[in-house]
Amino acid sequence: MNLLDIIKKAGKEERAIGHFNVGSFDMFPAIARAASGAPVVIGVSEGERAHLGLGHAKDMARSFGFFLNADHTRTVEGAREAARAGCDMIVFDAADKPFPENVRLTREAVIAAKRARRGVVMEGELGYIGGSSSVFDAFPQGVVIREEDMPTPDMAARFVKETGVDLLAPAVGNVHGMIRPSAGGGSSSGGNPALSIRRIKELRAAIRVPLVLHGGSGIPDEGLRAAVQAGISMVHVSTELRLVWRTALQRALAAHSAEISPAKFMPEVLSALEELVARKMKLFGYD
Ligand code: 13P
Repeated sequence: MNLLDIIKKAGKEERAIGHFNVGSFDMFPAIARAASGAPVVIGVSEGERAHLGLGHAKDMARSFGFFLNADHTRTVEGAREAARAGCDMIVFDAADKPFPENVRLTREAVIAAKRARRGVVMEGELGYIGGSSSVFDAFPQGVVIREEDMPTPDMAARFVKETGVDLLAPAVGNVHGMIRPSAGGGSSSGGNPALSIRRIKELRAAIRVPLVLHGGSGIPDEGLRAAVQAGISMVHVSTELRLVWRTALQRALAAHSAEISPAKFMPEVLSALEELVARKMKLFGYD
């Protein structure tokens, strides 16, 4: 089955494919252990691609049986390059632009990428949810968090029709990154806003392509479950992975302060990562 069919099948089963961003090669085997054979998409942002090398990331993804996504690609040329490099999926992101420009650029990217690689899965973004997988003290400027500012079903249907995307990632109360709990906000797990499950259901009913939820970090478990049941077929997680990786690494280095062999202290770091990914996969419906 190709990636798009796998995503559609997950949606029909009220499950969501786990999409995990990686910034370091040692994350691959940890994610593979956690997934234990379930389908997984590995995402590399433009920064992560520059760090890892897209070709190496692709080879690694292939060797573990993962799909590879060129996450948040911001230029048409970048989308074409990612398709040529053999990515299975490309997220084209012009969500910070006004609607007509977002439509025009996304349509161009879809045409360019599909010409470069037939069958590449193209995703478009609608509604600005911020651009960085970090821990914040306040909401990033301009993010859509009120229901009245979220994309409407009509707008989403128009976007899908006019751009030709295979997947749609709408702003439904999700933000990239996590708001520090002390900074306040709308949800029980820290300061992230609450998801609009109602809007997810309305969008699901209005459009024919699968829906993707970005900004999966910092959303309480019950919010993620409800989103998947309401019609989300893929969830992106990055910040929580980064946070666990770094915190576990600091802890491991402190516990083995004289140790210089990564083979001795990295397994602890990777177990922590594996545990997190396994927990998310379970929430998405893959036990
Ligand atoms: P988080 O960093 O909030 O998990 O979002 C990740 C994401 O959506 C990457 O595309």
